[in-house]
Amino acid sequence: MRPNWIPPVPNSNSQLPITTPPKCPDKWAHTEIRPPLFQALVGRLWENMRNQQPIIQVEKLTIYRQGNTILKSINWKVREREHWVILGANGSGKTSLLSALNGYLMPSDGNIQVLGRTYGETDWRDLRKEIGLVSSELIKMVEPWEDGLGIVASGRKAIINSWKISRAEQVAAKKILRQIEAAHLEKRLWQVLSQGERQRLLIGRALMARPKLLILDEPCAGLDPVAREHFLNFVQRLARQRGGPSLVLVTHHVEEIMPNFSHVLLLKNGSALAQGKINVTLTPELLSRTFGAQVQLKRNRGRNRMTISQGQKGKAEF
Ligand SMILES: Nc1ncnc2c1ncn2[C@@H]1O[C@H](COP(=O)(O)OP(=O)(O)OP(=O)(O)O)[C@@H](O)[C@H]1O
Ligand SMILES: [Mg+2]
Repeated sequence: MRPNWIPPVPNSNSQLPITTPPKCPDKWAHTEIRPPLFQALVGRLWENMRNQQPIIQVEKLTIYRQGNTILKSINWKVREREHWVILGANGSGKTSLLSALNGYLMPSDGNIQVLGRTYGETDWRDLRKEIGLVSSELIKMVEPWEDGLGIVASGRKAIINSWKISRAEQVAAKKILRQIEAAHLEKRLWQVLSQGERQRLLIGRALMARPKLLILDEPCAGLDPVAREHFLNFVQRLARQRGGPSLVLVTHHVEEIMPNFSHVLLLKNGSALAQGKINVTLTPELLSRTFGAQVQLKRNRGRNRMTISQGQKGKAEF
C-alpha cells in the first residue's frame, strides 16, 4: 500500500507537468457514455505515462560566476525508482548542481527540469515544497530555540523556523517524528541537539513536504561512526520503501553508498566525467580520475571501501 506521507498524484492545474505526455487515442471522445473499465484503463495509462517522466532532467547545464565556470555542459537524467550518488573532489560542483536544481543558483545556459516542471517556466518556490533538501547550509539557518516538532513541521511550507503550527501540521509532524525514530526529540531545543539528532530532524523536515525527490548534501558530515551507520541504515530503509522518494546523495566517501543506491554521477572540475549504474561506473579507474589520485576499491556485501596510494609511502584509508 502507498504510505500516506507520499503525495497523491497532482490533480490541480498548477501541479500538472509542463511537458504534457502525448494524448491517448480515444474513440469514445464523441460520446458522454464511457464504459467504466475503459475509463479505468485510460486513467492507469495516463498515470503510467506521468510516472515515466524523469524526476530530474538536466541538459547542457552551464553556470558561470565571476569569470569561473562552475558547471560545464552537464547532461544528467534521474528516472523514477532510481537512487543516485554524486561523487567528486572539493570544488567539483556538487553543491552548485544541487543549488541549481533547487533554484538557488541560476543557470547561465542549458535546461533544468525537475518533477516534470521546467526552470524559467514555473514558480520554483512552489516546486521547492516537493523537493526535500538536507544540507549543512540548513543547519546554520535554524533558530536555537526551535524544538523538534517545530523543525519538522516547518517543512510542510518549505520554510525554516515555524512561527505558527496548525493542529493538522502538529499531527503530521508527530507521525514523521515516529517514522524517523525521533519521537523523543519532539520538545528538545535545536541548541542542545547533537549533530546526528539535527540531521535526523532535517530529514524529518524534508519528509514533511512529502517529497518525490529527497536531496542529501553530505548528510553524514560531522556524525560519529556509529551515528553515521545508524543514519545510513535509515537512508537505506527509505530507499527501499515502496512509493518513497527518489534519493540523490552527495558524498565524498564511497562507504556511505548503501546497496539500494543504483546510479552514480562522477563530477570533475564542473564536468560530468562519467555516469551510469553503480556496478559498472564505480570503478577504481574512474574514481582515480575523479579524485586525481591512484585509488583502489574493494566491495564487500554491497558496501565499498576506497584506499588511495600515496606515492612510495604506502596507502591511506579514506
Ligand atoms: N556564487 C559563486 N560565485 C563564484 N564561484 C562560486 C560560486 N558558487 C560556487 N562557486 C565555486 O564553484 C566551485 C564549485 O563549488 P561547489 O560548492 O559546488 O563544490 P562542491 O563540489 O560542493 O565542493 P565540496 O566538496 O567542497 O562541498 C568552487 O570552486 C566554488 O568556489
Ligand atoms: Mg559541497
